[in-house]
Amino acid sequence: MDVSVSPLFKGRSLLTWLDYTAEEIRALLELSKQVKGEHKGGRFTGKTLALLFEKRSTRTRCAFETAFGEEGGHPVFLSTGDIQLGAKESIEDTARVLGRMFNGIQFRGFKQSTVETLARYSGVPVYNGLTDDFHPTQALADIMTLEENFGPLRGETLCFVGDGRNNVARSLMVICSKLGINFTVVSPPALFPRRDILETCEALSAGSGARIRISADTAELRGACGIYTDVWASMGEEDKKAERRALLSPYQVNSELMAKTGRSDTIFLHCLPAIKGEEVSPELIEGPASRVWDEAENRKHTIKAILLATLDCL
Ligand code: CP
Ligand code: NVA
Repeated sequence: MDVSVSPLFKGRSLLTWLDYTAEEIRALLELSKQVKGEHKGGRFTGKTLALLFEKRSTRTRCAFETAFGEEGGHPVFLSTGDIQLGAKESIEDTARVLGRMFNGIQFRGFKQSTVETLARYSGVPVYNGLTDDFHPTQALADIMTLEENFGPLRGETLCFVGDGRNNVARSLMVICSKLGINFTVVSPPALFPRRDILETCEALSAGSGARIRISADTAELRGACGIYTDVWASMGEEDKKAERRALLSPYQVNSELMAKTGRSDTIFLHCLPAIKGEEVSPELIEGPASRVWDEAENRKHTIKAILLATLDCL
């Protein structure tokens, strides 16, 4: 599928990859690769993008701002300290007003229902820049980074080690299930992915050929081309830090754990920010297997591709 001539993307929101077909995700990956090799242009000239943040961000905010701005677009950063979202004004009304002024809206915050409401009422494409449930733009950059190292991933296995219920693990499970990439979560049973998302992904993988596995046993890492981890307590879960440290300390990703893949070419991924010494050892994230800086850079290229396709700017 060629994104530049496909009418399928125009005006679409990205709330979760569940709403996109494997073919559409593949086309966006191809466009991301192309965008990474291009020089800056003016493809967003005259366009505006509202960037709504209830939670902090470095990469997502900067990726949206630079991807949009360097192509001539005008991004406007709005934290909940600045606007009325959900406080003095309903999300529905905020969505309707922003939709009259902006070509698109990015939202990062707590509830998935907020990003869904923004999409329903604004009339413009809405992009999920992370909620408690999903982090779809991150997952696209992760697959791009893996494929830069291994080529097409069909038949390969990505293994997520850590809090298997969090937004990043969930989005990776969805995108891998869609694309036919094997996906393993290794975590203590208390942090196994929720039944509902697992059942959804198992149904998807039956069609794509992906193998989804959930286990508490690090022996499951054998053969994985990528080991991925994330913070033990996500934004909004600060009160759970001690409990998570107790549960997840045996699952720190370090050289010893990486060796369990039995491969010398396995790469390490992390969405960042990382707490070195907790979910990942300092020597691993700084060492030769780490691809976390490429992964962070790819946030910008993938977000630019998503914006170009959905705002019909190709
Ligand atoms: N990975 C990621 O989303 O980073 P930020 O929280 O800095 O945006
Ligand atoms: N799971 C993490 C991801 C940060 C990019 C969080 O939600 O805080």
